[in-house]
Amino acid sequence: MTADLLISRDGAILEIGFNRPAKKNALTEAMYKAIADSLEQASDDPDIRVVLFYGEGGIFTSGNDLNDFAQVATGQRRAEDMEVMRVLHILAGFQKPVIAAVEGLAVGIGLTLLLHCDLAYVAQDARLTAPFVDLALVPEAASSLLMPALIGHQKAFALFALGEALSGEDAARLGLANAALPAGDVLAQARLSAQTLAKKAPGALATTKALMRDSATIRARMDKEGLEFARRLVSPEAREAFMAFAQKRAPDFSNLA
Ligand code: COA
Repeated sequence: MTADLLISRDGAILEIGFNRPAKKNALTEAMYKAIADSLEQASDDPDIRVVLFYGEGGIFTSGNDLNDFAQVATGQRRAEDMEVMRVLHILAGFQKPVIAAVEGLAVGIGLTLLLHCDLAYVAQDARLTAPFVDLALVPEAASSLLMPALIGHQKAFALFALGEALSGEDAARLGLANAALPAGDVLAQARLSAQTLAKKAPGALATTKALMRDSATIRARMDKEGLEFARRLVSPEAREAFMAFAQKRAPDFSNLA
């Protein structure tokens, strides 16, 4: 277990809180491992009916820790061993409702995670981005399939390729969230909905969710993206992007073919 993740139980609700505010709640391998383990336990525990993700410190998450990506780029770690893939596979087939409470920044998987949540509440002033191409990467979490299906190709492309941001209001309008609320109300509303869901008939809830999501197709797309993502991570473009982030400068792709 890692202190960067707060995992707690409130009756039938499992809360998973990203708790690394000094790094904008960037998600490390240790955090992904703890998330995957918790989701597996929640899946097997009949007393847990709902899972709720939130971020501490007024931030959801700045996405994958870029230092972990840089370790793959420089050969210190294998892309195939990355725990994020385990988290995504579990979420793709997760039978219990998953809720997100999003305040502040939601970058990369912070945004694409919403595609795997059954309810999402966002702060009106939240800022959601998925700047995969700016990092010389490609979309993940089956977002190359699910995002255009939800918001249309052009809007999804602008998110991934231009790195355009969505506000919380945009996210709600586009169907990525149930509601955009004042920041202080987001977690309370998510908890209220979690409590309501926790009292519903669990079998009916699980089957309703299963009927609404084609897990096999989602996993197949995750795997396809994962192969491309792994290739991109070790590319000279990605090494430049991660080095630029570490050096606090804009990447320069002008000399790369
Ligand atoms: N991975 C690793 N460290 C991160 C991080 C990430 N994804 N996001 C932020 N941090 C770190 C910064 O390096 C900085 O560390 P330092 O204080 O040791 O220098 C600290 O968190 C604060 O971030 P900072 O950039 O100073 O905050 P900001 O408010 O100016 O900007 C972001 C916040 C999230 C917009 C900016 O940090 C950013 O773009 N991060 C990268 C996001 C990203 O590309 N994620 C991956 C998506 S796939």
